[in-house]
Amino acid sequence: MSIKKIGVFTSGGDAPGMNAAVRSVVRSALYFGYEVAGIMKGYSGMISGDIKSLDARSVGNIIQRGGTILKSSRSEAFHTKAGRAKAYESLQKNNINALVAIGGDGTFTGASIFQKEYNIPIVGIPGTIDNDLYGTDFTIGFDTAINTAIEAIDKIRDTAMAHDRLFIIEVMGRHSGLIAIQTGLGSGAGSILIPEEKADTEKMLDNLQKGLDQQKMFSIVVVAEGDNSGGGMAVKEIIKQRFNQFDIKVTILGHIQRGGNPTCNDRVLATRLGYGAVKALKQGKQNVMAGIENNKTLYTPFEDAINNQKEIDLDMIKMATILS
Ligand code: F6P
Repeated sequence: MSIKKIGVFTSGGDAPGMNAAVRSVVRSALYFGYEVAGIMKGYSGMISGDIKSLDARSVGNIIQRGGTILKSSRSEAFHTKAGRAKAYESLQKNNINALVAIGGDGTFTGASIFQKEYNIPIVGIPGTIDNDLYGTDFTIGFDTAINTAIEAIDKIRDTAMAHDRLFIIEVMGRHSGLIAIQTGLGSGAGSILIPEEKADTEKMLDNLQKGLDQQKMFSIVVVAEGDNSGGGMAVKEIIKQRFNQFDIKVTILGHIQRGGNPTCNDRVLATRLGYGAVKALKQGKQNVMAGIENNKTLYTPFEDAINNQKEIDLDMIKMATILS
């Protein structure tokens, strides 16, 4: 069946650059002769039928804006067969016969099931600050998030040094340590704790001891929220049990990492992937995620993008310790 109207939506945790991706999808689709509709609030809007037509002007002046003009959500109802049936009904009512899904692994898991049930072509665009999708070097939002975090950590570093304090900084990443690794190494942190490395608190304690032996009183520890120690507050307790010399503060950076104007890298990535996703639909591809590796656009089946783990370079964590 030939594609007439493409529905585009953003789903899961928002990420800076999603708007640039929406802009690119809409304008590329119009260029190739398709109609476009925006589905509001991800799968929730697909179920409730909150869908509107988009033209070139409706995505003007958004390339530089954080958040997503289409809004986002994590839909429980889409996990059910009945929810997905309603979603399909809405798409039919709006004459949408292809989709571009912008989001993370949850979004693509839903897309993959939906595609199998209703055989509607779907192409995904990786949009998550976590960068935890296989099949692309970077996901949209990661670059902005790490730069936001670095700016905050630099400021914390000033006050940590002034007071000889130990700061534990918790960054986002429920299942992934990629934000922690990048911001930890980039901010000169002494220890980086991530979900992918199990025995990392022991190494951190040894490293703090080494620092103390050299009269080092101020220190930065970056911990991913999903680290198996339990996150920033729990790490503070672990350190307190071993040392009483440290004046320990915990900063949880939280959702500040998800907002703000996207960096140039994120805008360009989003623009390339938006164009790449529409081109893929035009070529008859479906059930794949568009990604960029080594500066080349490629398409990875949803199942591989979700089920394969992106490689983590544990040497970067070691490097942080050596250089601190
Ligand atoms: O998946 C992106 C992410 O920002 C994770 O790093 C974080 O754990 C999660 O979303 C937070 O989600 P929510 O905003 O729904 O609490």
